[in-house]
Amino acid sequence: MRLVQLIYCSRVVAGVHGTAITSIVDVSRFNNTRDGVTGALCFNANFFLQCLEGERSAVNETYHRILRDPRHEHALLLRYDQISKRQFGDWSMGYLSSQAMAPDLLLQFGSNDRFDPEQLGADAALDFLLALKARSIRLREAA
Ligand SMILES: Cc1cc2nc3c(=O)[nH]c(=O)nc-3n(C[C@H](O)[C@H](O)[C@H](O)COP(=O)(O)O)c2cc1C
Repeated sequence: MRLVQLIYCSRVVAGVHGTAITSIVDVSRFNNTRDGVTGALCFNANFFLQCLEGERSAVNETYHRILRDPRHEHALLLRYDQISKRQFGDWSMGYLSSQAMAPDLLLQFGSNDRFDPEQLGADAALDFLLALKARSIRLREAA
């Protein structure tokens, strides 16, 4: 099995929020479980940042489907790598809350405390998502 990991960011189209986001997460979880794809999605009012991992053709097909989605635009591929193991293996599509996106975390990976994934390099994009995942788990455990 050729495992790959893909990370991209894109811009949220005006008017996409709330129920649209919930339906993206629901469909993603259903399709990704079916296709053996795992990963994480985080967003704010302006940007999406998503990691997809799984068998190469499954990840590529999912990404091409996502690119055609009119709910976002200006997709920017940040990272595409062969991997030996998954880093979001327990998440069919972990949804990372904006609560976890605290200013200190944003400042750690960017030049300021705004969420602007277009400025992230390949390593920083992955490290940011992993840090967000760790924080999100801690927040859930504390709740
Ligand atoms: C930012 C964003 C992320 C998405 N992530 C996924 C995903 O991980 N998996 C997926 O199947 N669809 C994802 N979608 C939805 C797809 O674009 C598409 O609507 C969906 O896969 C169609 O599924 P269906 O053919 O089963 O209706 C995403 C859409 C957006 C806008």
